[in-house]
Amino acid sequence: MATRTTGNLTGPTGGTGDAAAVLTAHGVRRAFDGRPVLAGVDLSIAAGEVVALLGGSGSGKSTLLRVLAGLDAEATGRTGLRGTAAVVFQEHRLLPWKRVGDNVALGLTGPDVRARVDRALAEVGLADRRRAWPAELSGGQAQRVAVARALVRGPDLLLLDEPFGALDALTRLRMQSLLRRLRAEHGFAALLVTHDVEEALLLADRILLLDGGVIAEEIPVDLDPARSPDQPAFGALRRRLLDRLGVPAA
Ligand SMILES: Nc1ncnc2c1ncn2[C@@H]1O[C@H](COP(=O)(O)OP(=O)(O)O)[C@@H](O)[C@H]1O
Ligand SMILES: [Mg+2]
Repeated sequence: MATRTTGNLTGPTGGTGDAAAVLTAHGVRRAFDGRPVLAGVDLSIAAGEVVALLGGSGSGKSTLLRVLAGLDAEATGRTGLRGTAAVVFQEHRLLPWKRVGDNVALGLTGPDVRARVDRALAEVGLADRRRAWPAELSGGQAQRVAVARALVRGPDLLLLDEPFGALDALTRLRMQSLLRRLRAEHGFAALLVTHDVEEALLLADRILLLDGGVIAEEIPVDLDPARSPDQPAFGALRRRLLDRLGVPAA
């Protein structure tokens, strides 16, 4: 397993990880100004598995995702990544001075970049926007470009930090089904950070609850692939998660 050595994180020297895991973390800690936010996080994501990371606002979800993405030099603990990871944030983070296609192509090399970019844009339904400027896109379109920019790298793991959180409800539903389709086609694993219980239940194979700086609970989502919120089993899981998050019954 390739290991991360960013900052204070040290990678395992081999033999410690789950052989089938695309991502592992052991004892990840992070404090801000002496206040611990992550207090020893352990997790493992299998190849092709979609895991939702659920937690209240300020529970440390984004902090953990940044650590796992190798973007936090101050964290301690061990993380291991097998293959390549790509990140999608809540804000699209497109460069406004580059056209859509050039944003997707950023950092890519090789003779077939143009074809790969076109394919990625087509996959998110934006084949005709390659020459558009980011400012010309709707919020949902810009976020689809961000997804294309991640996809074009052929990632083994997508790290998604509330990627649909800023979108209106209808666009969010469309993005959720897009993610399900892309996942079925590409088979990437994903860690989906969300505070939306329904989104977690719709998309994930397993849910991790971040609370008190640790993974406080792990909930397998034993629902069929064509799951929907009106199924009794879906409702029961939703109730259990909302209870756990401290949201009183309606
Ligand atoms: N760069 C930072 N400096 C100081 N405090 C931070 C920083 N980043 C996050 N925090 C604090 O860490 C806690 C967790 O933040 P965050 O990971 O963004 O939570 P979540 O994504 O679950 O809402 C919050 O209390 C936040 O204020
Ligand atoms: Mg966050």
